[in-house]
Amino acid sequence: MSQDYKDYFIKDGRHIGDYEGMYRNCPDPWNIEALGLRLDMLAALLLLDFLKGPIAKVLDLGCGAGLFSLEVIRKLSKDNKDIWFLLSDISPTALRQAEKRLRTSDLGERGRKEALGKAGAPPLGEAPPDLASLYAPEADFLPLDLRTLPKDNPFSGKGFDLVVLAQALWGILEDLEAILTEVRKSLSPKGALLISQHFPGDAQEYGRDIVRDPEGLKGFLRKAGFKESHSVECDRDFNHHYGGLWRSS
Ligand SMILES: C[S@@+](CC[C@H](N)C(=O)[O-])C[C@H]1O[C@@H](n2cnc3c(N)ncnc32)[C@H](O)[C@@H]1O
Repeated sequence: MSQDYKDYFIKDGRHIGDYEGMYRNCPDPWNIEALGLRLDMLAALLLLDFLKGPIAKVLDLGCGAGLFSLEVIRKLSKDNKDIWFLLSDISPTALRQAEKRLRTSDLGERGRKEALGKAGAPPLGEAPPDLASLYAPEADFLPLDLRTLPKDNPFSGKGFDLVVLAQALWGILEDLEAILTEVRKSLSPKGALLISQHFPGDAQEYGRDIVRDPEGLKGFLRKAGFKESHSVECDRDFNHHYGGLWRSS
């Protein structure tokens, strides 16, 4: 079995889209565990500061192994523990990895249990840990192919305060407007869509005729009924990174 993610993702200009095979066979397919958060993710995290009103329900579409999801959860739940996160991806294996990441993170169950265990027997003279800071996020995990949304949208009318779409563009490119239209229907009236996406410029092998830069993506978002509220762009000439916050127009 190949361990080269391109054999499952995009090869010779064609979107193969075997994401489940990829997560099964390629450790760290996006090099994300090794390299950490990309610029577009850092930009998108900054944009969370512009969310309005209380955030109670968050949907992360194409969450993959959950590295970015964890950062979103970490940031949003810093001052608000009453949030439910629904993480979704086409690949059940990716979802299992995301769940493990959350449950074994410092925010997760294990960290909580370990700390509570310590709290049960703090060394003499030592203050017990701050139990209020120990928090296991309320999260569920749903396998779903976003390309099915135009026919059957389980999120429609569910009033998510935030929907995250991070680097999931290539897997939905061929029906982008219809899928984004369905994503918009999942938002609460003040809800926002957070986009984190990078564009490889001349190295883009697939979909250049559909979207090749943030402007191209913005065109589809507008057609789907969104308007941009805030954005950050960087590294335009090499690996164009875009973070954007969009609301219903
Ligand atoms: C590059 S990864 C990004 C993962 C994560 N959002 C992040 O930023 O780290 C793209 C993810 O989109 C998922 N994906 C691609 N096409 C999809 C589709 N049609 N429906 C649902 N998920 C999809 C893939 O399985 C993969 O986990």
